[in-house]
Amino acid sequence: MKVLILPDLQAAIARAADIIVKTVQTKPDAVLGLATGGTMLPLYDELAHRHRAGKVSFASTTSFNLDEYIGLSPEHPCSYHHYMQQAFFDHVDIDPARTHLPKGDASDPQAAADDYEARISDAGGIDLQLLGIGQNGHIGFNEPTASLGSRTRIKTLTRSTREANQRYFRSFDETPQYAITTGVATILESRKCLLIATGAAKAEAVARMIEGPLAAVCPASALQLHKRATVVLDAEAAEQLALRDYYETVHPDGRESAFGG
Ligand code: GLP
Repeated sequence: MKVLILPDLQAAIARAADIIVKTVQTKPDAVLGLATGGTMLPLYDELAHRHRAGKVSFASTTSFNLDEYIGLSPEHPCSYHHYMQQAFFDHVDIDPARTHLPKGDASDPQAAADDYEARISDAGGIDLQLLGIGQNGHIGFNEPTASLGSRTRIKTLTRSTREANQRYFRSFDETPQYAITTGVATILESRKCLLIATGAAKAEAVARMIEGPLAAVCPASALQLHKRATVVLDAEAAEQLALRDYYETVHPDGRESAFGG
């Protein structure tokens, strides 16, 4: 796992944007795995900015989002469909026909989940999977104890995740209890993973992911199994890393190491 520690939020976002832009420049028809959440908002702003500046085109890319709430239509203002539209799709040249999110309002959510997994595979798999991390170590909506072999399916959200996401809804009771999420194994199959964590609230989860045991109780720790996983952190999110000095020696200022390791 490459651990890149940047001095602040702005630098971390810029570094993550560099990695995504480079992927798309190298492979214009890349399949991107996209994520939602507050962490991603400045990143999507930065990517839109680089697009407007003529530095990157998403015209030939395909995207698959990690997850969607069950019971919310794409038009619902709190759905991840709506989030993606507002935060990213409306601001870049991605072809709407090639953007995909699980169908949260499907009459048969498990069938929709199975179909989603098949569509990822039909697209040739994901080249770069973008990830955030929940304070409890979740990735996508793979909550603690999610099977490390899981595929796209329905997950029940923990109380702490619903509380964290309540800020987008009118009340806790209105915050969905179920979601369709790509599985841990689906995520691990991506050719590259890029996880971004910023802020002190993520420091403990980040330390468990990178330095804790590989365990379903911290689904993000599954990235320890991935051959090409990069974690981009700001200084606050890196606060609880025991081997921080080592990561900073290997990747000074979050740069690639001389030997790529
Ligand atoms: C949600 C999403 C995750 C995201 C997490 C953290 O639960 N399903 O994909 O990583 O929240 O969100 P934030 O970036 O707002 O802390």
